[in-house]
Amino acid sequence: MTTTGIAITGSGSAVPSLSLDNHGLSQLVETSDDWITSRTGIRRRHLASPEVTLGQVAAEASLQAIAMAGLDPGDLDLIILATSTADDLFGSASQIQARIGATRAVAFDLTAACSGFVFGLVTAGQFIRTGVYQNVLLVGADILSRWVDWSDRRTCILFGDGAGAVVLQGSDRDRLLGFELKSDGSQNSSLNLAYQPEPKTLTPDVTIGQGRFHPITMNGQDIYRFAVKKVPEVVEKALFRADRTADQVDWLILHQANQRILDAVAGRLKIPPEKVISNLAEYGNTSAASVPLALDEAVRSGKVRSGDTIATAGFGAGLTWGAAIFEWGR
Ligand code: ACO
Repeated sequence: MTTTGIAITGSGSAVPSLSLDNHGLSQLVETSDDWITSRTGIRRRHLASPEVTLGQVAAEASLQAIAMAGLDPGDLDLIILATSTADDLFGSASQIQARIGATRAVAFDLTAACSGFVFGLVTAGQFIRTGVYQNVLLVGADILSRWVDWSDRRTCILFGDGAGAVVLQGSDRDRLLGFELKSDGSQNSSLNLAYQPEPKTLTPDVTIGQGRFHPITMNGQDIYRFAVKKVPEVVEKALFRADRTADQVDWLILHQANQRILDAVAGRLKIPPEKVISNLAEYGNTSAASVPLALDEAVRSGKVRSGDTIATAGFGAGLTWGAAIFEWGR
């Protein structure tokens, strides 16, 4: 079988206009700007007001990415939406397809929490690699503010809302150089947003479970230890598969969970701080949106240039984690 190369040719991002800084948050729970900033690097987060939908924010990011790639929405073959917070549990990718007018594209959701963008990048790449599709839109978007317990100071300080998108295209030159993906469901209880059924009797013989999803629960220290150990390992494996070394990486774009995690992972990989992209201070942890949001800002500010080698990694609930090495641009 002949295989096709993959190029990442466009990016876009969008966040809700509403924001809440750490001082505002300290009116809600017992915390302080100093505690949050020193432990996480986060200073504010953007939050969706009630009328904002995931589809709206995702579509805004998508249209930017499509324009940067020089395509029209009608050129898209496939749309993958990485999210854990769909507007509709049946999936929200089709709503993006309709909203942006990508009439030819098939669309589906992919759920892998904060690893969703990296898992989506690899999934999208396979459709191009096999020659099935030529133009793919990958969106990472989450509105976690709808699922956070705003009375729990251990978690509510961390999360924000947003969307990021990239366009992947078939190319003579292969720019997706290597990847590695991992899951470990045995540690699922460290971080989840779980459905909790309550018995509902339909007839004397038939009882089903009908309940609701409960807000995010997290063992912060477990997740911290997991990330600092597993993320450097998975980046190294992806680098090995890409036939690259850490000193050949121009930019490290990790899932924006916590500045301390970014610093520790970069330290273990011996990648200097000036190569580490961070926008945590402004957005907090936006889950599946965080990597493409950081990438898009770095591209638009002129930091990331065509041909630069990027190491990216996602990690989070599942547990899931994964890394991909790619060169930006055509
Ligand atoms: N303000 C003030 N005090 C706080 C706050 C807060 N917001 N949160 C916790 N504390 C207190 C605790 O009550 C505790 O007090 P105690 O000793 O009197 O009981 C003390 O601070 C220490 O609490 P820890 O939970 O041990 O705090 P830690 O230093 O571990 O920092 C943090 C917490 C920032 C959450 C850290 O564990 C972390 O970053 N973990 C990684 C979490 C993460 O990145 N998750 C997302 C990744 S996956 C995904 O993206 C979905």
